[in-house]
Amino acid sequence: MSVVAVIGAQWGDEGKGKVVDFLTEKAKVVIRFSGGDNAGHTVINPYGEFRLHLIPSGIFHPQVTCIIGNGVAVNPSVLLGEIDELQKCGIDASRLFLSDRAHLIMPYHILFDGLEEERRGGGALGTTHKGIGPAFADKAARLGIRSGDLLDREAFLTRLSAVLEFKNAILTKVYGVSPLFLEEIYEQYCSYGERLAPFIREVDSVVQVAVLRKEPVLLEGAQGTLLDPDFGTYPYVTSSSPLAGGCCIGSGIGPTNIDYVLGVFKAYITRVGGGPMPTELRDETGELIRERAHEYGTTTGRPRRCGWFDAVAGRLSVQTNGFSGIALTRLDILDVLPVVKICTGYKLDGETLSSFPSSAVTLARCQPIYEELPGWQSQTDEIRSFEHLPSEARRYVTRLEELLSCPVGLISVGPRREQTIVVKSIW
Ligand code: GDP
Ligand code: IMO
Ligand code: MG
Repeated sequence: MSVVAVIGAQWGDEGKGKVVDFLTEKAKVVIRFSGGDNAGHTVINPYGEFRLHLIPSGIFHPQVTCIIGNGVAVNPSVLLGEIDELQKCGIDASRLFLSDRAHLIMPYHILFDGLEEERRGGGALGTTHKGIGPAFADKAARLGIRSGDLLDREAFLTRLSAVLEFKNAILTKVYGVSPLFLEEIYEQYCSYGERLAPFIREVDSVVQVAVLRKEPVLLEGAQGTLLDPDFGTYPYVTSSSPLAGGCCIGSGIGPTNIDYVLGVFKAYITRVGGGPMPTELRDETGELIRERAHEYGTTTGRPRRCGWFDAVAGRLSVQTNGFSGIALTRLDILDVLPVVKICTGYKLDGETLSSFPSSAVTLARCQPIYEELPGWQSQTDEIRSFEHLPSEARRYVTRLEELLSCPVGLISVGPRREQTIVVKSIW
């Protein structure tokens, strides 16, 4: 395998960071291709415990070039903070490149994110307030400012002046709040530009050379399929595509060059923020999973909603991404449960649905149909081979493979790099 894409298969936080850190052992290039600092990827390895929002999770491996691709919206202050934190821990960040095509999160994006959520009132989406929606809206509206713009101060001033005039009109006339000051933003972003200059470059040649030479390249997804603006629970979604299709656009690698698409699923499901979630557990089992797994958002600290594995949503994910295989994470969290359930269909108005509805309103009315399997009630976090898993755990994994029509290639039984079972080698 040369190019492997690691894709969130649920509502995010599936453990993509851990899987990328694990797989990077054999990689030469790791590229983040979508989202922004709404993402929070936890990596626990011999260097310590890290929560990365923008820097690819492959940065800990010294042989790797890490790229923040054109598809990422970058808050420069967050990126600089992350670079500093890594350098403090002795991690070399000189192998990091930021695509000059990547859009920037500007102060007004963060302001609009908050104002728009406030305006939605009870219908708020529960965004991360990182300015993601407004930044990707500006990209589509051709009002964006890109990292490469910071390298030409004069052109940057012209562009920022024009955009800010428009943004200030909306702030003052629509929202009735104070305008932002051009000089303040300009000076601040010029100073970010100075510090980021060594990292900003055209990255296309690096990416294309790696692909041509068939070097191992990892594409690191952010968010998850059910947060995709097209196939997710719209409007309770994010604003860039977390799908395998999104990784082509967000990295500049053509679809025929992607050799393996790995879908990362938790052994159950979680969601942070608003929107329907048919298998949500609002009982002591949900509470037990949340506390045992410490299911609190990596970026916002909000409690994550926990539920049983949803195979209906899972099938949508397998299909829209064309997964070659699955990385099943957090199997160890289910170790204590006497029974584990899998949602195999939905009940709606007396009918049985076996596919995921396109409307969030319809999805909110769906009742899950469960299949129950016996739990294994024994510890799995020290196990390193599929054969050594308790038979009930193997049965659970095999049943998920059947329901999703996709093979499991990796099983994760703990947050640390080595707590990984390779069922079928990916590289
Ligand atoms: P990401 O956004 O997909 O990278 O996932 P997050 O880092 O936001 O959340 C996943 C959480 O699960 C992190 O705290 C990881 O350290 C942790 N984690 C990943 N894999 C496993 C696993 O197999 N078992 C356990 N117990 N924790 C895991
Ligand atoms: P990682 O990469 C989980 C959710 C937010 C909210 C919705 C829209 O760590 O898996 P946004 O700020 O993007 O406009 O918020 O999307 N969300 C995530 N949930 N993991 C993420 O990233 C997420 N990124 C965004 O909670 O519901
Ligand atoms: Mg996360």
